[in-house]
Amino acid sequence: MSQYEYTLPLMPKSATLIDPHGRQIKYIRVSVTDRCDLRCNYCMPKGFNDFQEPEDWLNFDETTRIIAAFARLGATQVRLTGGEPLVRQHFPQLVKQITAIPELTDLSLSTNATRLAKQAADLKQAGIERINVSLDTLNPDKFKQITQGKLQKVLDGLQAARLAGIQPIKINMVVMKGVNDNEVPDMVNYCIENNFTLRFIETMPMGDTGREATNQYLSLQVVRQQLEKQFELIPTQMKGGGPARYYHIANTNVNIGFITPISQHFCETCNRVRLTVDGTLHLCLGQEHSYPLRELLREGISDTELEQHIIKAIALKPENHEFSDNPTKLVRFMSQTGG
Ligand code: 5AD
Ligand code: SF4
Repeated sequence: MSQYEYTLPLMPKSATLIDPHGRQIKYIRVSVTDRCDLRCNYCMPKGFNDFQEPEDWLNFDETTRIIAAFARLGATQVRLTGGEPLVRQHFPQLVKQITAIPELTDLSLSTNATRLAKQAADLKQAGIERINVSLDTLNPDKFKQITQGKLQKVLDGLQAARLAGIQPIKINMVVMKGVNDNEVPDMVNYCIENNFTLRFIETMPMGDTGREATNQYLSLQVVRQQLEKQFELIPTQMKGGGPARYYHIANTNVNIGFITPISQHFCETCNRVRLTVDGTLHLCLGQEHSYPLRELLREGISDTELEQHIIKAIALKPENHEFSDNPTKLVRFMSQTGG
C-alpha cells in the first residue's frame, strides 16, 4: 500500500450519501415493473399502453447490484414497488437476492394485493416482513370505478398475508372528495377488525391523470378533525413510518397515519430515492431530476465506479417537490415511478 493511501482520511462510507441539502439517503424504493393489473384512475392514464420494453428492464442481478452499492454507501432500507410488483415473473427470487445483502435492516413491499392470495407465504419465506396495500374503498362497485378490478381478490389477498404472518399490514387509502371520503369510518372499522394499520394519503398531481384527480383533493386535516369526533386519537410513532404522522385509536389495537404531501409537505426530512424498472434513479417523486444507470452497468463499470455514479446522482437531489406551487410541472405519473 502506498504512503498516499495511508494518509487518506478515514471517511466512513455512510457519510457519502448526504445530499446538497444535508439529508442522508438511507432508503431506496425500487420499482420492478411499470405494469399494473388494476390501473387506478389517479395513478395510470386510461388506456395507457406505452410500457417499458423487457430488454430495458433491469434483470434481478442488475437490480440487486445497484441496491448492494447503495447499502455499502449507508442505505439500510428497501421497499419494492411497481406498478404492481407481483406481476413481475419470479418476483420472490428477487426478494431472496435482496435479503442476502448484509447491510440492509428493512425490506418491505407495496402491492395492490390482487395476487397475494397465491404469493403471500412464498414472499414471507423469501424475506418480506411487512407490506403496504393500496385499498381506497370497501364497496365493490366503487372499487370497479376506481380500478377496473375485483375487490374480493384484494380482500382475499389481505387475509392470506395475515395468515402468512406478515406484520404490520398497512392499508393505504387515497382520500378523494366525493369519491370515497364518506367511507373513512368504514375503513377505520375494517382495519380495527383485522388489526391493520390505516394510512390516509392526499391526492398528488402526478402527470395528467393525477392532475385530473386533484379536483378531488381533500386536505387530510379535515379528515382528522372528523375522526376526532368519533374516536380518541393519541399521537404515536411507528417503525419505518416515513412521513406519516400516526395516532393510536384509544381502546383498539390500531394505528392510523396521515400522509400529507400537499397540506403539510415533509421534504426537509426526505431520506429516499427511487429506482425505476429501466434502471433510472429518480431523485424526487415530484421532480424530473434523474440519473440513468442501466447503460453504465451494461457497459461493464466496476462496483467502485457504480458507487461514484450513485454519489454523483445524490448531488442532484432537489430540495422539495412543487406539487402546490407548480402543479403542471410533473409529466411522469405514479405507476411509472413507484409510490
Ligand atoms: N396521489 C396520491 N397517491 C397516489 N398513489 C398513486 N397515485 C397517486 C396520486 N396521484 C398511491 C397509491 C398507492 C401508493 C403506491 O401511491 O394509492 O397506495
Ligand atoms: Fe396499480 Fe397501485 Fe397504481 Fe393502483 S395505485 S394503478 S394498484 S400501481
